[in-house]
Amino acid sequence: MSKPVILTGLRANNDLHIGNYFGALLPMVDMANRRAGEYQINLFVPDLHSFTTPIDHAALYAQTMHNIKIFAAAGLDLNNPHLYMYRQSYVSAHSELTWILDCFTGFGEMSRMTQFKDKSGKLDENRISVGLFNYPVLMAADILLYNATYVPVGEDQTQHLEFTRDIAERMNSRFGQLFTVPKPVAEQHKFFGKDQGLRIKDLADPAKKMSKSDETGKGVIFLGDDPAIAAKKVMSATTDSVGAIRYDRENQPGICNLLQILALLSGRTVQDVAGEWDGKTRYGDLKKAVAEQVQSFLTAFQKRLSDIDEAALHAKLEASESTMRTQADKTLLSVQQAVGLRPAA
Ligand code: ADP
Ligand code: TRP
Repeated sequence: MSKPVILTGLRANNDLHIGNYFGALLPMVDMANRRAGEYQINLFVPDLHSFTTPIDHAALYAQTMHNIKIFAAAGLDLNNPHLYMYRQSYVSAHSELTWILDCFTGFGEMSRMTQFKDKSGKLDENRISVGLFNYPVLMAADILLYNATYVPVGEDQTQHLEFTRDIAERMNSRFGQLFTVPKPVAEQHKFFGKDQGLRIKDLADPAKKMSKSDETGKGVIFLGDDPAIAAKKVMSATTDSVGAIRYDRENQPGICNLLQILALLSGRTVQDVAGEWDGKTRYGDLKKAVAEQVQSFLTAFQKRLSDIDEAALHAKLEASESTMRTQADKTLLSVQQAVGLRPAA
């Protein structure tokens, strides 16, 4: 019996910050390391999805490889034989199944997709690609080819996951059991039980979350930041005029954020860290403690990134891609048979 599959696409880029790292990357790496064995874990880079909106194509390949390295540097166990890491475009069945599913997908249902409306709304009409419109169908193919049961995704992708369930059910009811229908979103949340609440705030403006779309980058700590410059960003973090260190989200959001970052970087609970600093009055000391941790974290992370054995990484990708082709082609063939492109089995 084959193992149930947990699958997700890793959209990450050079601009990842410590919010992405602690809020998304680490939970995903922990999940993969913990569940591989009991489950088959598929982690892939959706490189075909990367140019549904205009990009710099000269940078795409390097970007794809950088993304994969970041996951390895974050601790993903590449030696685990139940973990498959691959590039979407290296398994051609993704594109082929997309075309077939396209022909069973309604123009209306794609037009209602929130992400399409948001992203297309920001582009001139002649730059809105059919690929952007079609994005959810490719995502459904990514999932259905491997009969994935669990698909951890962020809030903004849940509508696409619902569409994946719809198209799988539609195909199954028309042609018989072709696909595993992934679990509904609520069950996925229960399964992953991830801390949905974690939000690191912008250092300069602790009312907003740290985000790569911030134009100045002053309050954002990027994984690629020079560690000394990142430490300076911490030292100029916005605080308040209360004059005592308390974990009071309402009145001291800047201080709370510093305590939170310190807790994450030192692997302690925020309660523990807040208890240690409670009532102390020198904000400069707290900033200094955070700045030191940030600096050593970035130094270590960047070292891990540059130490990655690229040959071993390539070997992992190629081995995974070969296994994935076999699995995906099997599903594709059953669909081709069902729709009459191949003689019935
Ligand atoms: P950004 O706002 O920087 O563009 P994304 O929306 O692309 O980030 O989010 C990518 C992932 O990182 C999501 O899973 C999101 O929940 C997580 N994430 C983003 N910002 C933060 C943050 N400030 N704190 C914790 N997690 C975050
Ligand atoms: N669309 C996802 C995102 O923006 C990435 C992705 C592509 C994905 N295909 C997928 C995620 C399949 C899960 C399953 O984050």
